[in-house]
Amino acid sequence: MAKNRIVLGCQWGDEGKGKIVDLLAAEADIIARFQGGANAGHTIVVDDRKYKFHLLPSGILHEGKQCVIGNGVVLDPFGIKEELDVLVENGISYRDRLWISPAANLVLPYHKLIDAVQEHSRGTANLGTTKRGIGPAYVDKVARHGIRLVDLFAPERLKKRLEFQRTIKEQYFTGSDDERTDLDRTYRELLQLADLFRPLVIDVSRYINEAIDSGKTILYEGAQGSLLDVDLGTYPFATSSNTTVGGALTGLGIGPRAIDEVIGVVKAYTTRVGAGPFPTELVDDMGDRLRNQGDEFGTTTGRPRRCGWLDLVALRHVVRLNGVDAIAVTKLDVLDGLDELKVCHAYDLDGKIITDVPLDLARLNEVKPVYTSLPGWSEDTTGILSFADLPANARAYLEYIAADLKVEIKMVSTGAKRKEIIMV
Ligand code: IMP
Repeated sequence: MAKNRIVLGCQWGDEGKGKIVDLLAAEADIIARFQGGANAGHTIVVDDRKYKFHLLPSGILHEGKQCVIGNGVVLDPFGIKEELDVLVENGISYRDRLWISPAANLVLPYHKLIDAVQEHSRGTANLGTTKRGIGPAYVDKVARHGIRLVDLFAPERLKKRLEFQRTIKEQYFTGSDDERTDLDRTYRELLQLADLFRPLVIDVSRYINEAIDSGKTILYEGAQGSLLDVDLGTYPFATSSNTTVGGALTGLGIGPRAIDEVIGVVKAYTTRVGAGPFPTELVDDMGDRLRNQGDEFGTTTGRPRRCGWLDLVALRHVVRLNGVDAIAVTKLDVLDGLDELKVCHAYDLDGKIITDVPLDLARLNEVKPVYTSLPGWSEDTTGILSFADLPANARAYLEYIAADLKVEIKMVSTGAKRKEIIMV
């Protein structure tokens, strides 16, 4: 059995990673997040209670499991405090089991303001960001004037770094009466949080490497999806971090051998929230049906998600980018009751049939999907627990996907609840 697994989204996010991580967390000692920030949103249902987290690793609901947030994450210190408060209200302890890298860059109130202003100035070409300040925070990190968690423990340095923001963000701050530009207030509020974070900060790289050496099992939890990767995804319609496998190495300080199984999470159809190319998008009744049946509304922003058929061309690309070993297919039950299912196996670009993504991913906007039609099933698959009990056409659909992608299917999710899962 693989000891150190990574779980990654294979589409444009919202694949249902939270539930898969939550399940695999039961077999892990440590669950580690390595990129993204509060743009992520995972919903986990335990005993009919729904939890929504943005920053905390999904494993946090497993009492006794160690949870880690790596340096690659951009951390909203006020947001994470709210999530910790929910844990406390529900009697879940995080002390001595939540650890954060001091090198994590902070998302501060002005980052959210800048995110909103930039989106506004993009006009109709906006990216549809979550407005959580993710892009501006990563920009500061790369520009080397970001504020890191460790700065909270050095008040003088923190003050200087915040003051410097006034100079470099003049364009956003001067003349603005938005309270998010009030750096004195941000400074005061950050200092108030220092004691909350002080006991949580450790050398994450060392912690994970030592854990691996002592035979512990690690689960690496990806956020967003591979097609949103800032380097390898549908740029500029992407998030600002590396959502593919390499993000885990730099985001935690681990070597490639620290991962021995790559699990890709694939929704049984495709969704996308925000702007950008989406070849198999359905802007018709079928799209509405998938949205309503699948409850496809963003956890973070509440926005309706764009819905469409499964895109095997894009998935083949993602499997290759990450070296995916096995997939977990989610939301199969949403397809119940359809007469026919379509899967895109090629694109038509300028009258030429291509079976791989175009060199310029922006041209995904121009491709027309070429579909294979598969028969649907009328039975209700909700809560089915064994592969053999699935309707024959549902099995055939899954087997078609696995054969095309040349990966094995490890899990099939058949409902929102923790127990509604097929372990293949
Ligand atoms: P940002 O990450 O907020 O900058 O948003 C950039 C793009 O990524 C937008 O299209 C967002 O809708 C999308 N995005 C960011 N985080 C998620 C996520 O967790 N799930 C799905 N889409 C996301």
